[in-house]
Amino acid sequence: MLTGDRPTGPLHLGHLVGSLRNRVRLQATFDAYFIIADLHMLTTRNSPEDIAQVDVRARGLSLDALSAGIEPEQAVFYLQSAIPEVHELAGLLQSLVTVSRLERLPALKDMARDAGVDMSFALLGYPILQSADILSVRANAVPVGKDNYAFVEATRELARRFNGKYGEVFPVPEIIAGEAPTLIGTDGKRKMSKSLDNAIALADDAATVRRKVMRMYTDPNRIRADVPGTVEENPVFAWLDVFAPDTIHVEGLKQRYRSGTVGDVEVKEYLAGVVNDVLEPMRERRERFSQPGLVDQLIENGTRRVRTETQETVFAMKRAMGLTGAWNRIRRRAARIPPTQASQRGEGLQGE
Ligand code: TRP
Repeated sequence: MLTGDRPTGPLHLGHLVGSLRNRVRLQATFDAYFIIADLHMLTTRNSPEDIAQVDVRARGLSLDALSAGIEPEQAVFYLQSAIPEVHELAGLLQSLVTVSRLERLPALKDMARDAGVDMSFALLGYPILQSADILSVRANAVPVGKDNYAFVEATRELARRFNGKYGEVFPVPEIIAGEAPTLIGTDGKRKMSKSLDNAIALADDAATVRRKVMRMYTDPNRIRADVPGTVEENPVFAWLDVFAPDTIHVEGLKQRYRSGTVGDVEVKEYLAGVVNDVLEPMRERRERFSQPGLVDQLIENGTRRVRTETQETVFAMKRAMGLTGAWNRIRRRAARIPPTQASQRGEGLQGE
């Protein structure tokens, strides 16, 4: 399976319930590949400041995943931009999809609107690049949230079209839906998101969690503890439903809240404890995997592995397409001379 994230910031509780827990569960069944999709980040965020942060954020994303329970012995973490062949693969897919098909994707328009940018050529091609990621390792399964369904649907189409036109190269990947509810932010208004400043990061310490929970939005009509409150649409109770193992205690709190016999402070104190209980074992894992160089080494190994697989896939595509046929000799010779400066420095393609 292949899934992953753009390195735009640290993961938070919304990611934990929305995707990470699902990924942890699936690693028992699948070989798990996790992409750090920095090329996808560029489609909406390409400032030098954003790019300068990719290093730190890539490390952070991987550490977040490890802390949530992804096992380093099995998982393959890799940095997308270190696989130049993914562009070649995407290029070979481009003639198999029409511009109007891409223009009709609401998910892309949403992304442009949310990021406050016009639709660039790169953003229009977002689903093709994502398809290249998925097809590069010939993934069978792609666990993603709703916002990504349309993209993986496009991947399935591309895989079928390629296979139909040139011969079987790709499995048609299944979308694995996470059944989790979306988590509302501390503002009680919108889904949790770092950019909305309504998130609790997985890396937040216990005091920060407590402070954020104590400031959470609750029932705005409830000015005193003895005023009956509303449990529905109240983010504090929504979170308790998601995170509290003691459902009987939560039911009791709900009843007392409705009848005006419990204060917001008591409920929030309880919730802060519940959230910290969820995060505490993750903090221990984070500590364990924070030794210098460990995550970098993981990403490096994973990237090397995916690069090799991608080169093999591109070759298989070209063979199926006939692009390795009559002109092979010329291409081989042309590739051999002159050596580029990069390859002289030893940075060229392996095996060149
Ligand atoms: N589109 C994903 C996101 O929303 C990131 C991504 C890039 C991805 N390539 C992928 C997800 C391949 C799954 C598979 O951030």
